[in-house]
Amino acid sequence: METNHETAQKSGFGSKLGFILAAAGSAVGLGNIWRFPYLAAKYGGGIFLLIYLILAVTFGFSLMITEIAIGRKTGKSVIGAYADISKKFSPLCWLAAFVPVIITPYYCVIGGWVLKYLLTFVTGQGSTAGGDGAFFSSFIGRAGQPTVCFLIFLLVTALVVMLGVQKGIERISKFMMPVLVLLTIGIAVYTLTLDGAAAGVKYYLLPNLEGFTAEKLLKTVAAAMGQLFYSMSLAMGIMVTYGSYMRKEDSLEQSVRQIEIFDTGIAILAGLIIVPAVFVFSGGDTNALNAGPSLMFITLPNVFGSMTGGQVVGAVFFVLVALAAMTSSISLMETVVSIIMEKFGLKRIPACIITVLCCLLLGMLSVLGYSTWSNVRLIGMQFLDFFDFISNNIMMPVVALLTCILIGWVVKPEYVEDEVLVSQKSFRARMLLSVMLRYVCPVCMIIILLTPFVTEI
Ligand code: PFF
Repeated sequence: METNHETAQKSGFGSKLGFILAAAGSAVGLGNIWRFPYLAAKYGGGIFLLIYLILAVTFGFSLMITEIAIGRKTGKSVIGAYADISKKFSPLCWLAAFVPVIITPYYCVIGGWVLKYLLTFVTGQGSTAGGDGAFFSSFIGRAGQPTVCFLIFLLVTALVVMLGVQKGIERISKFMMPVLVLLTIGIAVYTLTLDGAAAGVKYYLLPNLEGFTAEKLLKTVAAAMGQLFYSMSLAMGIMVTYGSYMRKEDSLEQSVRQIEIFDTGIAILAGLIIVPAVFVFSGGDTNALNAGPSLMFITLPNVFGSMTGGQVVGAVFFVLVALAAMTSSISLMETVVSIIMEKFGLKRIPACIITVLCCLLLGMLSVLGYSTWSNVRLIGMQFLDFFDFISNNIMMPVVALLTCILIGWVVKPEYVEDEVLVSQKSFRARMLLSVMLRYVCPVCMIIILLTPFVTEI
């Protein structure tokens, strides 16, 4: 059977820059823009940042380079890749394949919400979007508009994926990512010049050790690790898929470092936009940095509403969020498409059509979970929350744990090392990778899996 790598001669990434921008585009998403800032604010500001940075260059680096190496070495989709390494690990193939199948639909639903806000600000109606949250709840509480927004977001994503790796994904990433960086820097500079922003910057960047108990430290480490997964698009098959399109001559180690810098840099900058702006607006009330969708869809529109030039800043901000979400949803969908192409021997367009149909089915559950079926609950959660919970809190840590066992103990870290050495003379992080994959990452995964239960007790 033809592997992705063989087809890569025709349709893989055409350049190292193209690969890095596409992978960074996958990593930089909703997670960087609303999740990272509120977690940093919640878990002691500078302490969270420090723990996150240490984990990113050790734990995040090791998992990312492992996934990309698996993809590049096997040249296959996530299902074929894991099966190639060990037949005994075939449940891992399926579990890893299901993660993007579950995430892509609801990610596109949230992408649709972003489009609605973008349109609201662009048409000069941003001042109606905040308030006490009535705008948001009445928007998601109806079936029609969220469905249309979801469909638009889904179809644009599908269109890019249909165009293929080089003509679609690489080309769009090369355009979108530089625009995204410029917009992020532009808005950060603007919000930092607001009166009173300095207090927010201090709160965000300086470590806050007040009441920092052992329990809080454990929760902070678990939150930072969870965020790393989310942010770096790990354990969802994306990096294996993109790795399978990577050129053999490009350095893996250097590429992973660059993707990490991109991803963490944008997350820190997003925090420099959101935390000071919310601080100025709320007069220093940290509760305003509350978790979840309310920060992006209720608090921030209020913040923009109270700012001079807030209409324009709001519009630019939602363009930025839409770009970030789009490059991530493209990578999620490409992962599903690559699985269908490989498993069923289909061409790209039919595989895309099947993927879109699956997304429609699952995505509509998330859309209607807030309106027509708002009283349906799965283990006490609405559909969207349920999909988010089982993918992020259960499936992804399990996939990562099994990957560590497979590479760390079954085939040994030399598997990754050999692939790294295909494109460079030496591998500086050899020891780090081995210790991380064999000991540290598995323990971390178990901590992530158990923390919700332990803290509950
Ligand atoms: N890494 C992307 C983000 O930070 O938004 C993409 C992503 C992560 C999508 C996690 C979905 C997800 F559950």
